Amino acid sequence: MDKVLVIGACGQLGSELSHGLGEVFGQENIIAADIADPVPAIEGFIYERLDVMDAKSLADIVDKHDITQIYHLAAILSAKGEENPKWAWNLNMTGLLNVLELAKEKKLKKIYWPSSIAVFGPGTPVDNTPQHTIMDPNTVYGISKLAGERWCEYYFEKYGVDVRSIRYPGLIGYKSLPGGGTTDYAVDIYHKALAGGHFECFLSEDTQLPMMYMPDAIKATIDLMESPAENVKVRSSYNVAAISFSPKEIVASIQKNIPEFTTSYVPDFRQPIADSWPNSIDDSVARADWGWKEAYDLDEMTSDILQHLPELLPSFQ
Ligand code: SER
Repeated sequence: MDKVLVIGACGQLGSELSHGLGEVFGQENIIAADIADPVPAIEGFIYERLDVMDAKSLADIVDKHDITQIYHLAAILSAKGEENPKWAWNLNMTGLLNVLELAKEKKLKKIYWPSSIAVFGPGTPVDNTPQHTIMDPNTVYGISKLAGERWCEYYFEKYGVDVRSIRYPGLIGYKSLPGGGTTDYAVDIYHKALAGGHFECFLSEDTQLPMMYMPDAIKATIDLMESPAENVKVRSSYNVAAISFSPKEIVASIQKNIPEFTTSYVPDFRQPIADSWPNSIDDSVARADWGWKEAYDLDEMTSDILQHLPELLPSFQ
């Protein structure tokens, strides 16, 4: 019987992934852990407070619950990382190395760790960015993700740790508020549209970025983790794509439902970060190796969010 530890369970991805994993393994077999107070979205899960920088506490929790798999999601994202680069580097790298080392020592069955499109940089081909290409990230977040990918492959090759990873595009979910990402405007915008307000976008209207609706991200993650090990041929991290759009295009999609919605564009320090990332991603390797396929396009995502977010709005007050 698997026991799964989700580190960063209170985050945008962690809270929804915990529920997805609960459906696979049973909610009682998921241990939600975070440095923060538990959020309402993970109510009902066994909860442990954990600072992943503390290797001893991490090992104690793994022993206490007989953990067999770890999903290590805790990280500082791109925009926030630029405010304090050394802190972001330290947290992103030490956390991952603590998890990989523990997986090696305790022979854990599987590890999941997210990478990102932030591993790419100004020298990377921007359209249909291939799985293997130039990678010259220029944010501390991107540098930590690229280094992390190398460490994952290293632990797989040298120690046989079964670690698996996806380079997520911008993730868009309505169940929790994201924090500190460059792609997060595409979450905020739905809140503003429903509040009847005006949206001021921190990226220019034509900045196209790879994005993905959260249910697709949860499906991709669980599909990869549940694939037979021999199908997982990339041990750094897989390119995975769904939809690519610009602020102008998401606004148009929202205006099909809320015609009076207005926006303006005031690019800030996040514009050069977005400009250094791809417009779209070639994920043919993930499609061939473990059968990845997305379900939602931009308009389907917009309809789903505009239909369901209103019920949750009071919980964000
Ligand atoms: N969504 C992340 C960010 O914008 C990229 O992985 O930082």
